[in-house]
Amino acid sequence: MKHKRQSWGSKIGIILAVAGSAVGLGNFLRFPVQAAQNGGGAFMIPYFISFLLLGIPLMWIEWTLGRFGGGFGHGTGPGIFHTMWQKNRFIKYFGVIGIFGPIVIFTYYTYIESWLLGYTFFSITGKYSGISSPETMTGFLSGYQGIIRNEYFSGIGTAYTFFLITFIINIIVLYHGIKHGIEKLSKVAMPVLFICGILIMLRVITLGTPDLSKPDWNFINGLGFLWNPNFSALKSAKVWMAAAGQIFFTLSVGIGVILTYTSYLRKDDDIVLSGLTAASTNEFAEVILGASIVIPVAFIFFGPEQIMPIAKSGSFNLGFVTMPFIFNKIHYGMFFATLWFLLLFLSGITSSVSLAQPAIAFLEDEFELDRKESLGIFAVVCFILCQPAIFFLANGVVDELDFWGGTFCLVLFGTCEAILFSWVFGIDKAWNEMHAGADMQIPKIYKFIIKFITPAFLLAILGSWFFQEGLPVIFMKNVSQENKKFVILTRIILVGLFLILSFLVRIVWKRKTVQSRSA
Ligand code: ALA
Repeated sequence: MKHKRQSWGSKIGIILAVAGSAVGLGNFLRFPVQAAQNGGGAFMIPYFISFLLLGIPLMWIEWTLGRFGGGFGHGTGPGIFHTMWQKNRFIKYFGVIGIFGPIVIFTYYTYIESWLLGYTFFSITGKYSGISSPETMTGFLSGYQGIIRNEYFSGIGTAYTFFLITFIINIIVLYHGIKHGIEKLSKVAMPVLFICGILIMLRVITLGTPDLSKPDWNFINGLGFLWNPNFSALKSAKVWMAAAGQIFFTLSVGIGVILTYTSYLRKDDDIVLSGLTAASTNEFAEVILGASIVIPVAFIFFGPEQIMPIAKSGSFNLGFVTMPFIFNKIHYGMFFATLWFLLLFLSGITSSVSLAQPAIAFLEDEFELDRKESLGIFAVVCFILCQPAIFFLANGVVDELDFWGGTFCLVLFGTCEAILFSWVFGIDKAWNEMHAGADMQIPKIYKFIIKFITPAFLLAILGSWFFQEGLPVIFMKNVSQENKKFVILTRIILVGLFLILSFLVRIVWKRKTVQSRSA
């Protein structure tokens, strides 16, 4: 190998970096919406079951696979999968999903992250502080996105400028590498993010009842809306799928990023306690902070009748319309709005750098390019790939990218990992590998869970997902006639990207075979 692989500076550094990858928009916007839409308290039961049977096992599996592969100089799916199952010629191509998925998510995630930077700036300058109706706030967002022109925005120029700034910040962090870039960012961003989250939560708890004629519109009833169980929802397969999907997205498992991060560990670094700590940090951010902010505050201001339509209107509406509208109504609103968007921006950037790292690591590890060369190629290619999400946002492009990159690939890649780990590598060997250097012993029951329950659960989800959601998506059942051409074009780009990555894997492995024969 031409260059020495990078490494983390400290244990707390990798834990915060993995937690940073996990804590993101999923915790503060996606989770409350999913919980509210899927039966409130009833959602929490499949959610915690999925956390125990899918989330934690996959977290440990990815930490182990990453550290194992890193020992052989591989930090991404193709190399790691091949090292684990050398006799199989095709398994490395399944590993491509772990590079493809993060690139796809990166291409729209960075753009949404840039809105947060934009809204942080607008909160500081008070640009939307005079808006007093949700409709005008929706118009403000659409103007910013370049979908309509209005008195606030004359085109997409402002959004594009914030996108460029966000993209460049991501590249600067990545340029400084694992220890001096990602680790440093996580060590600063994570504590700041938690402080902002706790301050906002305290503000929401102490809001009282702003409208004295409606004493029931308060924080406790807002929490009740989210947590009071509706057990009939448990019978619905959709609720179970939504809960499992949320666990994947929020923990960043199945994406391919944790694998890459942990490939920079040393052979005897602990993974059991560290993985569990990172997962628990994410759950604190999600279940305590995420659940106590947007839904309760929307309940306080809109009441029990309107809260469901608001939750159904989706994460973007809640984050960029409902929340700024509410901030305009409370004392020191712009201060709290700044904290809110800063919190979201920081949670976004610690996730987006993790999405970039697999592709960069692939070029470094397999093509033996140095970091600057790899980053240069990544930056140019991804910059181009980000453009459809920016310019065709209103044409369903982001939804399409999110389905393949942010939903389907996660479950597929997670299933490959779980099967490889327990059934190909072998659970006994895998169990020992997992415990090498461990700071704690995993309860024995998890050996059974990881071998049987996790893969079976994953296959069940994959199957029901395919029939319930996959088929309608493949046949574009919910896509309007005018958007079909955009969706087809997005699919052509995605297939092209996957084929190019697979071709690169083929070239590298051919070269390796020739080299090993002539050695
Ligand atoms: N895990 C990241 C999030 O929750 C992707 O947003």
